[in-house]
Amino acid sequence: MTLSTPRIDELKQHVGHTVTVRGWVTHLRSSGKIAFVVMRDGTGQIQGVLVKTQIEPAVWERFAALTIETSVAMTGEVHTEERSPGGLEMAVTGLEILGESALDYPIQPKEHGIDFLLDNRHFWLRSPRQRAIARVRNEVEQAIHDFFYARGFLRVDTPILTAAIGERAGLFSTEYFDEGNAYLAQTGQLYGEAAAAAFGRIYTFGPTFRAEKSKTRRHLTEFWMIEPEVAWNDSDDNMRLQEDFVSYLVRRALDRCAADLQILERDTAPLERVTPPFVRLDYGDAISLLKRKGSTTVWGDDLGAEDESLIVEEYDKPVFVMNYPREAKAFYMKENPADPRTVLCDDLLAPEGYGEIIGGSQREDDYERLLARIRAEKLPEDAYGWYLDLRRYGTFVHSGFGLGLERTVAWICGLPHLREAVAFPRLMNRLRP
Ligand code: 4AD
Ligand code: MG
Repeated sequence: MTLSTPRIDELKQHVGHTVTVRGWVTHLRSSGKIAFVVMRDGTGQIQGVLVKTQIEPAVWERFAALTIETSVAMTGEVHTEERSPGGLEMAVTGLEILGESALDYPIQPKEHGIDFLLDNRHFWLRSPRQRAIARVRNEVEQAIHDFFYARGFLRVDTPILTAAIGERAGLFSTEYFDEGNAYLAQTGQLYGEAAAAAFGRIYTFGPTFRAEKSKTRRHLTEFWMIEPEVAWNDSDDNMRLQEDFVSYLVRRALDRCAADLQILERDTAPLERVTPPFVRLDYGDAISLLKRKGSTTVWGDDLGAEDESLIVEEYDKPVFVMNYPREAKAFYMKENPADPRTVLCDDLLAPEGYGEIIGGSQREDDYERLLARIRAEKLPEDAYGWYLDLRRYGTFVHSGFGLGLERTVAWICGLPHLREAVAFPRLMNRLRP
């Protein structure tokens, strides 16, 4: 007889039947006559009960050989048991060891230091908290695709190896045959702009790289960014899209990841408040607010993490700070006709101290002005030829933004640091595992 091998989350349909489940041992307990094996397969947990007098001696002996994280195939009849997590239990009659696990499994049920955990990230991923985070991230990623798909956006994959430069922060470079240096993309935006002229509404979703020498809880050297770009959207349209988008992502996590947010002990009340519209705070007003609160930041500066925290504590949901001074922002942002010292842009700051999760702007669509900005920033003009061309052949009003995936996941999950928001974080001092 071949037994069915369901996943643990399918066991409800097998009550009263004998099945085999495969997975990894997470807990072991024995009284000498009765023994318990809790195992995990990625979809759930099941407790197996072994009664010495009712099973073959060989099976009982195999139990004694189990260690934490041994991979096993456990066979038995499934029945309901209210006291058991998941409400089911298995009366074990068969046990097969598929892969032994050495006794010194590094992650033990005690407090470990963060460096130790990061060194053992390949195992740390198996813990309930890390699995909850990964599931929230997965849901947010799916929600991103669903949001744009439903609105007729085309997903465009932009290159990672590039000749041009996008943002100001540090660049990773590598030799590229006879072409000189290639740079790892800091953004897909410039390519996204070209695609927007071909398709109208597009988004990119890919890894981006910044050789930033900052060891903060908000910076990774490799992170994932989602960058929509929309023809005919001005800066106001852009912010409306952002608040709809972010509210949708938060709603999806609340609706579909309630159990995970509970594992993470996330207070969901602040997330429930994330609905459009968000406050729009002019940069000048943000500076006045900061001055009143004792910050030394002056007009012309970009806002630091502390400033962002001071601003968001005034509000109970995300807030836009818009129209920053030109000097504080990237070359491609459109000059603000109402105040040419500033550009038409926005940063979206998440509440509870999480700070900037989105940077967005209307793009400079005037050829001469854009060229002047490229020269003023001393950027390599030849690398931007194709980008300037977009302003020579059918230039168009357009806007877009970049949402940092790890910052968004960290905020939704309530994580203190970005390093837990991605499976294998890349930090200044961390390239392994
Ligand atoms: O504000 P940034 O630099 O904007 C851009 O890259 C634009 N090209 C986006 C666009 O308009 N298409 O980055 C956008 C977002 C930030 O708000 C932040 O969430 C995230 O990317 N981000 C980082 N996340 C983790 N680690 C880093 N080092 C990050 N730098 C930016
Ligand atoms: Mg930014």
